[in-house]
Amino acid sequence: MKRFAVPEISEGVYWVGIKDWNRRIFDALIPLPQGTTYNAYLVKGKEKTVLIDTVNPGFEKELGEKISQVTDLADLDYVVMNHAEPDHAGSISYIMKVSKGASLLTSEKGAKMAQLYHKIPEKRIRIVADKDIIELGGKTLQFIKAPWLHWPETMFTYLVDNKILFSCDFFGSHTASGFYDEDVEELIPFAKRYFGEIMMPFRSMGKKALEKVKELEIDIIAPSHGPIHKKPERILAAYRKWTAGETREKVIIVYVSMWNSVQAMTKTIIEILVSEGIEVNLYDLCTADIGDIARDLVDSRAIVLGTPTVLGGMHPLAIYGAYLVKVLRPPLKYGVVLSSYGWGGGAIRQAQEILGPTKIELVGTLDINGPPSTDDHKKIIEIGRQLSEKIRLSTK
Ligand SMILES: Cc1cc2nc3c(=O)[nH]c(=O)nc-3n(C[C@H](O)[C@H](O)[C@H](O)COP(=O)(O)O)c2cc1C
Ligand SMILES: [Fe+2]
Ligand SMILES: [Fe+2]
Repeated sequence: MKRFAVPEISEGVYWVGIKDWNRRIFDALIPLPQGTTYNAYLVKGKEKTVLIDTVNPGFEKELGEKISQVTDLADLDYVVMNHAEPDHAGSISYIMKVSKGASLLTSEKGAKMAQLYHKIPEKRIRIVADKDIIELGGKTLQFIKAPWLHWPETMFTYLVDNKILFSCDFFGSHTASGFYDEDVEELIPFAKRYFGEIMMPFRSMGKKALEKVKELEIDIIAPSHGPIHKKPERILAAYRKWTAGETREKVIIVYVSMWNSVQAMTKTIIEILVSEGIEVNLYDLCTADIGDIARDLVDSRAIVLGTPTVLGGMHPLAIYGAYLVKVLRPPLKYGVVLSSYGWGGGAIRQAQEILGPTKIELVGTLDINGPPSTDDHKKIIEIGRQLSEKIRLSTK
């Protein structure tokens, strides 16, 4: 019985991936509201068969069964490792144990990682360089150097004849829902969330990769997470914007408040920003999904950080939020810090310390004692006005 569906996405190219519907957290950090997928692809030439990437540990047997529905699992010629992270490379050692004649094709850095993380013997690894090709019989695979998306060893694989780009994490989305781009109503929000979480810190490398991809004729982009792009122009256009760091007249507010003083401060700044025609998104760090925050950081022009003073500094959740903003390197241009203290303060100074090394220009900071007074609200309105003006005068 053929239990699994193994769709042929293009002539001789089969999806043998896994949908991990129930997974709820990735990298011990990122929430997965719709699970995720580990897309792996089998390419059958007249003479050679190649597996492009594998799946997360725990799904080795399922991957093996899917491959067996198309070809003899013991008879693979090559396994391509576009990226060494275990969600894609974690089943390589299983596959190569069963398929004893298969060689692993990967970048130079990938070769070291395959030995280190996946215990692949060096003699079974063949390093491929930029533009190298492998003939499969009636099909040609080309390798494209695309490092730092989001690890140093990453690369893309291009199937010349079918015009398919296998891009691994790049162009991916963490969702198990849907199969092709056209099936997923929220494709761009999910892709954007993924970009914010994973690719945003590497925008300049992403831009370089897009330049290289421009030289290729592409009918299908087949990433390793989420839907396969049959209309690649949509995701390519989005990635051009996101890697360029194009921002909108948009403010993300991330805050935490124990007794509502900071919450009241954020409410006042929201009123003025909204009345000035600025898009606002608000996240209470106590309950927020950090994937949503990452998504909105992709194109927000400014951030408002709100935190009470706790034990002489910021609230720990605000430290976490500010730290995420720092390391995700969003294209934010402007920032405001709002804080409330009881007897000594210290939160603003810490926020300045964390955000100081970023490119964010602090337009205003306000530290108030206890709940905001009428005078404090006036000050917040003034800061909000200044922020709106900066946002509107900025080009993108
Ligand atoms: C656990 C805890 C620790 C605090 N630590 C400090 C502190 O070190 N310095 C200070 O000035 N205020 C401190 N405060 C007082 C708060 O900063 C102050 O009540 C503030 O207005 C709370 O803002 P919120 O209503 O937005 O939570 C602390 C309050 C709590 C509950
Ligand atoms: Fe990855
Ligand atoms: Fe991944």
